[in-house]
Amino acid sequence: MSRINPLGSEVAAGFACKPETADPEKPIMFAAAQIFICDGERCRSCHSDDLAGKVRALVKAMGCDKGDDRIKVTRCGCNGACRFRVFACVYQNGNARSYNRATSFSAWKRVHEWSDGQWMELIASLREGRPPESLREFRVEDKVYYG
Ligand code: FES
Repeated sequence: MSRINPLGSEVAAGFACKPETADPEKPIMFAAAQIFICDGERCRSCHSDDLAGKVRALVKAMGCDKGDDRIKVTRCGCNGACRFRVFACVYQNGNARSYNRATSFSAWKRVHEWSDGQWMELIASLREGRPPESLREFRVEDKVYYG
């Protein structure tokens, strides 16, 4: 019996979500940006939604799920930032067209409170290489240490 992963691909035997046929538009190790959404125990206790699944669907709806501007969404364990729950962080690929040093890394709090429109603002800002101004209240302050 075949299974279908959340992105609509048939799942390879013995795997949870690996697609049976690799999509050249979705190389596993490449993305222009990657959003890590914490699914650790403390963050998970704040909501019952599949946040990563929801954000993946929005990324796909905005056409950022493949190609050069691909944004990858990853569910991850505790980031050691539980006081910001639900915590998420974003990295941009330094080789991406939209790379902006000022937004190359960003950390976010209370992302379970975000509306679809707020997630779409983050996705659009990553695609365009600019900070998402309307999400400022959720940004975890950056601390940059120079050697
Ligand atoms: S459980 Fe999410 S940062 Fe710790």
